[in-house]
Amino acid sequence: MADKKQIEMEDIVSLAKRRGFVYQGSEIYGGMSGMYDYGPYGVELLNNLKAAWWREYTQKRDNYYGIDAAIFKDPRVWDASGHTKGFSDPLSECRKCHNRIRVDKELGAIGVVADEKMSEEDLNKLFDENRDKIKCPNCGSKDFTPVRAFNLLVKTNMGDFTGESDEPVYLPGEACQGIYLNFKNVVDTTRAKVPFGIIQIGKAFRNEISPRNFLFRTREMEQADTQYFVAPHENKEAYEKIKQDRMNWYINLGINNDNLRYKQHDNLVFYASDAWDIEYNFPSLGFDELEGVHDRTDYDLSQHMKFSGTDLNYTDPYTSQKYIPWILETSVGMGRMFLAFMSDAYTVEEINGESRTVLKLHKDLAPIKAAVFPLLKNKPELVEKAKGVYDQLKNGMKCEWDDNGNIGKRYRRQDEIGTPKCITVDFQTLEDNTVTVRDRDTTEQTRVHIDDLVNVC
Ligand code: GAP
Repeated sequence: MADKKQIEMEDIVSLAKRRGFVYQGSEIYGGMSGMYDYGPYGVELLNNLKAAWWREYTQKRDNYYGIDAAIFKDPRVWDASGHTKGFSDPLSECRKCHNRIRVDKELGAIGVVADEKMSEEDLNKLFDENRDKIKCPNCGSKDFTPVRAFNLLVKTNMGDFTGESDEPVYLPGEACQGIYLNFKNVVDTTRAKVPFGIIQIGKAFRNEISPRNFLFRTREMEQADTQYFVAPHENKEAYEKIKQDRMNWYINLGINNDNLRYKQHDNLVFYASDAWDIEYNFPSLGFDELEGVHDRTDYDLSQHMKFSGTDLNYTDPYTSQKYIPWILETSVGMGRMFLAFMSDAYTVEEINGESRTVLKLHKDLAPIKAAVFPLLKNKPELVEKAKGVYDQLKNGMKCEWDDNGNIGKRYRRQDEIGTPKCITVDFQTLEDNTVTVRDRDTTEQTRVHIDDLVNVC
C-alpha cells in the first residue's frame, strides 16, 4: 500500500462537489461568495457530526443542558455583548479594482503581527510601512485606501414594517449569546447547579471582508458552543479539563493526533481573559484555527444584567453565596469541523497496483453505513434476495442500494463517500444465507450470515 498522498484544498473541494457533499451557494446564479449548500451525503456527515457532539454533552454527561435559541434577538443584546462597537475587522479597499482586503490577514501573510487592540492610527502607520510588500490579491495593485474598522454584524430590517424605524435588528454575530440569555431560565427550570454547562448549535452571520478557503471562512455559519458556568475564580482547573476533553473528542472520532495542536492567543478579544485555539493542519492552509476555547470571566452575564436590568446572580444552594458565574466557552464552526474531518479522512492510496480515493471516516460519521449489492442485476432471484437484506438493514442504519456496474466500480464509489461496509448478495447466498462483507479500510472480504449483519455493520 502506497503512502497517503499530500492533499490540497482543491482535492477536497472537487470530491465534495463531485459526490454531492457540498455545493457553491446560489450556484445556478453564478455562485455567492462565502455561502455553501450541503448536498445529500454532506448533510448526512454534517448531521452525524452534530449528533456525535450533542451526544457527548447531553447524553454522556449529567450536568450539561441543551437549548435552541431564536436567531432574532432584542437589539440591545448586541450592545451588551460589545458587538455593535467592538466586533470589527480592519478593512482597506484597492483603489484600482475595489477589491476589499482584511489588513491584519494581509500583514500576517508577510509575517507582520497587527495587535487587535491597536488604534486605527497605529494600524494605518503599520500598513503604510509595509505597503510596498502587500499587493491586491485580485489585480496586483499596491494602491489602497486608508484602513478603517469594518463592523461584522449583519443588519436586517426584521420588524420594520413601516420602513420608518431606523433601529436595526442584527443577525447573531456569535451563537452563544442565546445561551447567556437563557442562563436564568435553565437554572429556574432544571436542577442545574453551578458548575454546569449549557450547549447549543446555532446559526451565526458575519460580514467577513474576504470569505475564502471553501468552508473555512464563510459569511453564514453554524457554531457548536458549550458554555460552562463556574464559581468566580474556580476557572483554572475546569478550563484545563475542558481543553483536554475537546482535544480528545477529535482524536476519539479519528482525527490524526499529528494534525491537531493547541495555540494560545497572543491578542485577546474584548471579552476573554485567556483563549486557546485547537488548530488543525488544513490542506493548503497548514495549521489554523478549528475551535476556540475561551475563559470569558463574568463579562457576559454582568453585561446582560446591566443592560436588561434582570438579576443574573446565582445563589449557591449549599453556601447561600451569591455571585455572577464565570463562563468557560468552547466554540467551533460546524463548517470548519466538517472540513477538518473530511480532509483528515481523505486518502489516495494504491491497492494491488490500482489507485483509489477513500474517505476513512469514523463509522459513526460515515454518511452511509452499509451498501448492498446484488452480484448481477439481471438475475431476479439475486435482486429479490438482496432487496430483502437491504430492507432489513435500512430499518437500523442509513444504507444505499447499488446494482450498477461491476462490483469493483461499486466498491470505488462507496470508498469515495466513506461507506465502511459493502455487502454483496451472490449465488451462494441463495443456498446458505451468507453474504460477502467487504471492509472499506482493509478491503478484506469475509463471509457473514445475513442474521449477523447488524453486528458487523
Ligand atoms: N462565541 C465565540 C466565538 O464566536 P470565534 O473565535 O469568533 O468565537 C468560534 O468563533 C469558532 O467559529 C471558530 O473557532 C471557527 O471554528 C468558527 N468561525 C468563526 N468565524 C468563522 C467563519 N467566518 N467561517 C467559518 N467558521 C467560523
